[in-house]
Amino acid sequence: MTITIVGHGYVGLVTACVFADFGNKVWVIGHTEEKIDRLKKGDPIIYEPGLKELLEKNLKSDRIHFTTDYQKPAAESEIIFITVGTPPKADGEADLSAVFEVSHKIAKNLRREFTVVSCKSTVPVDTNKKIEQILLKEKPDNVEIAVASCPEFLREGTGLHDTLNPDRIVIGSNSKKAIGLLLDLHEPLNGKRVITDLASAELIKYTSNSILATKISFANLISFFCEKTGADAETVLDAVGFDHRIGRIFMDPGVGYGGSCFPKDVKALLQTGKNLGINVNFLQAVEDINEQAKINIIQKIKKFSPGKKIALWGLSFKPNTDDIRFAPSIYIIENLVKNNFIIKAYDQIASKNIERIFGKQIELVQNPYEAVKNADALVIVTEWNEFKQADLMKVKKLMKHPVIFDGRNIYEPANMKKLGFKYFSTGRKTIL
Ligand code: UGA
Repeated sequence: MTITIVGHGYVGLVTACVFADFGNKVWVIGHTEEKIDRLKKGDPIIYEPGLKELLEKNLKSDRIHFTTDYQKPAAESEIIFITVGTPPKADGEADLSAVFEVSHKIAKNLRREFTVVSCKSTVPVDTNKKIEQILLKEKPDNVEIAVASCPEFLREGTGLHDTLNPDRIVIGSNSKKAIGLLLDLHEPLNGKRVITDLASAELIKYTSNSILATKISFANLISFFCEKTGADAETVLDAVGFDHRIGRIFMDPGVGYGGSCFPKDVKALLQTGKNLGINVNFLQAVEDINEQAKINIIQKIKKFSPGKKIALWGLSFKPNTDDIRFAPSIYIIENLVKNNFIIKAYDQIASKNIERIFGKQIELVQNPYEAVKNADALVIVTEWNEFKQADLMKVKKLMKHPVIFDGRNIYEPANMKKLGFKYFSTGRKTIL
C-alpha cells in the first residue's frame, strides 16, 4: 500500500517507520522544512529507543519519504493518517486547530478514486465527523472519501515495542471499505480487532488514558494515607495488585503523572463532560490528586532539606524519552527556584529541553555524580535505570548531607538505612 502520515511526533514517526518496515510506501508530511530536512537525513528529531535505526533502514530501502507538500502524498495514498498534536487550551479543551488545518490541506489534494482519512490524534467525540464535513465540502467532486478513527495506544519510551505488539487495534468507521483497507494494513500485527463506530473509537482512547491516570492517582491517594498512618504503600499496593481484577500495573505512586497525554486527556474528558452536562467530579479528583502528589514532594523538601543546594536526577516525564511536556520536573524546579533553592540537575537526554525553559536558572551537568557534589539533598524525579544501581557510597561521599527525596521509590528503605542515608520516599516510612 501507499500511505501518508501527517505529523512526525512520537505517534506519527513510529507508525510511519513500522508500516514502512512492513513493506509499504510511506509519505510523512510535516510543516517545517528544517525538520523535514533532518528527517530525510535520518535524524528522528525526537528520542525514542530503536527509532533512529528503523528510520535509517527504511530511508535506505526508499520506503519512507518526507515532505511539506501535500500534493503527491495525498494523490497517491490509499490511507492518510492524521497524527498532529491536540494540546490543551487554557480551559482544558483539546485544541483541534492543527487537526482541522491539515484536513483542509488533505481535502484539496485528494486525487484517488477512494481515500481513507484516519485520525490517530487523540480527539474528543464528534471530531471525526467534523473532519468528514471538511473533506466532503472541499474535496474534488470526482473522488470519494471515508473517515475512520484509529486511536493509538503506544507509550513513549516503548513506542516501537507497543506498536509492534498491540493489545488491540481499534477501528471506528461507518464505511466497510475503509474498515477493510485498515484491516489489510494492520494484517501483520497481532492483537484483538475492535471494529466500531466513530464516537466509540474516540471515547475508547479517552477512557483508556483516564483509567490509567485514575489508577496512578488512586495509588498516590493511598500513599498519602500511608504517610499519615505509618503503613507501607508498596506493600499495600502489591497485595492489592495480586487480585487479578485490580492488577499492580500503573499503580506506582510518586510525583504524579506527566507527559503529553494523561494531563491533557483527563482535562479534555473533563471539559467534554462539563459541556455535556455530566457530573465529572470524579475526573476532577483524579487531577487534583495528581497536583497534590507534586506539591507533597515540594513540601517535604522545604521542611526537611538541611540546606538549599539540591541535586536533581531525572528531568523527562518518564524514563527512555527526552520529552518534558507536563513533566513533574518542571513543576518541581519552578517551585524550588521560587523558594531560593539552587539546583544542579542531570538527565541522560532531556537536559537540552529543560535548558530551553529554565536557561541559566539551574545548572545542568553531564553525569549523576557531578550533580550530587556538595549537595544538601538529592531529589529523584524520574526513575531512569542508571539511578537504580548508582554507586550510593560514592553519592554519600560526594554529598554535603546524605539526604535523599525519592519521588519514584527506586531504593529499598532498609538498604538506605544500612548505607546511612536520611531517606524520604513516597508512602513509606522515612529513614532518619
Ligand atoms: C500514555 C498511555 O500509557 C499510552 O497507552 C497512550 O497511547 C499514550 O499515553 C498516548 O495517549 O499517546 P505515555 O504518556 O507515553 O503513554 O507514558 P506512560 O507510561 O503511560 O506514563 C505516563 C505518566 O504516568 C508518566 O509520567 C509516568 O511516570 C506516570 N506513571 C505511570 C506513574 O506515575 N505511575 C505509574 O504506575 C505509571
